[in-house]
Amino acid sequence: MSTAVDDLGAQLIAAEGAHVAHNYHPLPVVAARAEGVWVTDVEGRRYLDLLSAYSALNFGHGHPAILAAAREQLDRLTLTSRAFHNDKLGPFASALSQLCGKDLVLPMNTGAEAVETGIKVARAWGYRTKGIAPDAATIIVANGNFHGRTTTIVGFSDDPTAHDDFGPYAPGFVHVPYGDADAIAAAIDENTAAVLLEPIQGEAGVVLPPEGFLQRVREICTANDVLFIADEIQSGLGRVGETFACDREGVVPDVYLLGKALGGGILPLSAVVANEDVLGVIRPGEHGSTFGGNPLAAAVGLRVVEMLASGEFQTRAKALGAHLEQNLRTLVGHGVTAVRIAGLWAGVDIDPAVGTGREIAEKLLARGVLVKDTHGQTIRIAPPLTIRATELDWAVEQLKHVLGS
Ligand SMILES: Cc1ncc(COP(=O)(O)O)c(C=O)c1O
Repeated sequence: MSTAVDDLGAQLIAAEGAHVAHNYHPLPVVAARAEGVWVTDVEGRRYLDLLSAYSALNFGHGHPAILAAAREQLDRLTLTSRAFHNDKLGPFASALSQLCGKDLVLPMNTGAEAVETGIKVARAWGYRTKGIAPDAATIIVANGNFHGRTTTIVGFSDDPTAHDDFGPYAPGFVHVPYGDADAIAAAIDENTAAVLLEPIQGEAGVVLPPEGFLQRVREICTANDVLFIADEIQSGLGRVGETFACDREGVVPDVYLLGKALGGGILPLSAVVANEDVLGVIRPGEHGSTFGGNPLAAAVGLRVVEMLASGEFQTRAKALGAHLEQNLRTLVGHGVTAVRIAGLWAGVDIDPAVGTGREIAEKLLARGVLVKDTHGQTIRIAPPLTIRATELDWAVEQLKHVLGS
């Protein structure tokens, strides 16, 4: 196959490089259109999308049912601000709270905004309900976390690239090793408002906690009157073969943070979902967003929730994930040092002897497969949940080929 980028692609990449801030290091492919699991570049080459925009495209590119909801809403009403009511926000919030088994939804836009909102809710709950002394509330977070890019959030990241040179950092966060329930129990004191965790750490390389960890976190939080906030922005909404990654252990957190796939791959839509006794602490005027809860996003989100309510995507992710796992496990010892997988979400550690994660991603690109590396030696695999088993098999064949096994 020819190189991924030739004249037109190279020109567009150069133009982007000249005028877009260099806050990313994209792979050299210029997408022009996409359908389902396949992306087409400006030269007409096709690529199988095994990244799904970091799980924002759980239903694939241009899912007809989601597109139809968006198109219908585009012609009717797109934005009101929350100064007025709109006829889509109520139905969306009602469906989403039902999916989550909670009372209330606070709609925002990006994932980071949902996390920020969760932090504000936890602090307000800590002062107003738990009775923590003013400005003393703390939140326990995990080493290796990734919760977004705002100044408060990067302040409690331990990834130097995300964190360094963006201080001064907001106080009030206490770190514990990921997956260590005893460390959480030991870190809790009278000022602890919440434990904020990814039930599976995505950006860290699809890192799964030890079995029973989430259950223990739930027990510890309940016993100590501390909120359990699950950041399901990347892990939730069908990706792991359940609606939420917490479902893998039958655990219900106090607060769900959702984003990415909630917007159906069309627009940013995030949400904080919790019961009245928690989310009810926020009063009019204390929090909001011009675009949060807009009718276009709500119409798309409603359709996404309706699609998830049938359980079809979760079942598919579970079955295909088991199939993918079998295939990927055969690569361990053949250019791969470890595989971590939950549903259709895998972290594959590349043996340094065959290359870096980035090099493998570039070689896969040349063979028509889109993946993204993370933390040096890991590639992440997170295809749309609509992918077929034969397409997954083909992708693993390409991986085998570039690993030389
Ligand atoms: C677990 C988690 N939380 C929060 C975020 C931030 O989401 P966004 O990029 O939409 O702000 C991400 C993004 O990758 C994430 O994986």
